[in-house]
Amino acid sequence: MKTVLYPGSFDPFTNGHLDLVERAGMLFDRVIVAVAVNAAKAPIFTMQERCELIRQSCADLEHVEVVAIDGLLVDSLDHYGADAILRGLRAFSDFEYELQMALMNRNLRRNSETIFMMPTLKNSFVSSTLVKEVARLNGDFEKYVPPPVAAALHRKLTAGNQK
Ligand code: PNS
Repeated sequence: MKTVLYPGSFDPFTNGHLDLVERAGMLFDRVIVAVAVNAAKAPIFTMQERCELIRQSCADLEHVEVVAIDGLLVDSLDHYGADAILRGLRAFSDFEYELQMALMNRNLRRNSETIFMMPTLKNSFVSSTLVKEVARLNGDFEKYVPPPVAAALHRKLTAGNQK
């Protein structure tokens, strides 16, 4: 039974993330989507909200589990019995950050390997940050995220505007 841990802040989960989860299911028996803290980001959705939206978005995928993690990512590898870390690579610009994280994780815990997968071209420019920006500026963002996420973003932005 091969398990991969797919960590990220997923604020929010996009079609690019979903694409990767589906792709990983062709190589691994179990894909654990791990909603983690990125100290450099201030999320708009709570950890619980992000987990719930991913669960709804992946409801048809039997190989997927969603968990919230804190602390070091490498500590969660043992906890969930994961064989590898999965990360997405979209453009060359992702590479430097991803290389640093993969090497740091391997330094923190020997044998922690990171596997990179590329989303389909259609999703290769989609990022959570851009989706939020387009949504805030009333652009058409729905086509870049699964339907439960689109609905939640609408609610979040409407609630924000009423304050
Ligand atoms: O989707 P993101 O924001 O690019 O994901 C980054 C994330 C959450 C995977 C990274 O910040 C992380 O691993 N956080 C957990 C804490 C940790 O282990 N930090 C050291 C990373 S080398």
